[in-house]
Amino acid sequence: MTQDIERILLTRDEIEDKVSEVGRRITEDFRDKDPIFVGVLKGCFIFMADLMRHVDIKCSMDFMAVSSYSGTSSTGAVKINKDLSQDIEGRHVIIVEDILDSGVTLSYLKRYLMGRKPASINIVTLLDKPARRKADVFADYSCFEVPDAFVVGYGLDYNEHYRNLPYIGVLKPEVYS
Ligand code: IMP
Ligand code: MG
Repeated sequence: MTQDIERILLTRDEIEDKVSEVGRRITEDFRDKDPIFVGVLKGCFIFMADLMRHVDIKCSMDFMAVSSYSGTSSTGAVKINKDLSQDIEGRHVIIVEDILDSGVTLSYLKRYLMGRKPASINIVTLLDKPARRKADVFADYSCFEVPDAFVVGYGLDYNEHYRNLPYIGVLKPEVYS
């Protein structure tokens, strides 16, 4: 698996330090607000599991599954494959994403959830790739800005592989070209 990685962008330790810091910030900002964290499957699963262990307040969690992506280029279309199982009306929603790339997925999701009248919607993303932004959406909490390269690991995949890498690496272009 590691032979497909061109270089390591973020080490396990760097990720751990930053994720705990963001978890502590969210803890301060949402104290007494009983927020609901909405993880966007599948990419969020490792990040969210680590983040939540640094969020020291009463809160709940739910998950959605959306597909907008096949291979390395966004199709622009967003499909909801799994919806929430809890009501979010009047709740403080915190969407948890792996990466904010074109922003198409998150701007769609934010609008979609806004229709259910939550008290607020915030976005926390592990990675932000601002160079590729098409939609007008930003992250309220972002752990790392990354360059315009296709990255995998720590939950992020290329065609469902590499999610289990404990670090974030740049995939060798020859793997997908
Ligand atoms: P967006 O709608 O273009 O912002 O795309 C968001 C989704 O595309 C993310 O949730 C990822 O699943 C996927 N994605 C975007 N860039 C990358 C990348 O560099 N590596 C792996 N997945 C990516
Ligand atoms: Mg993906």
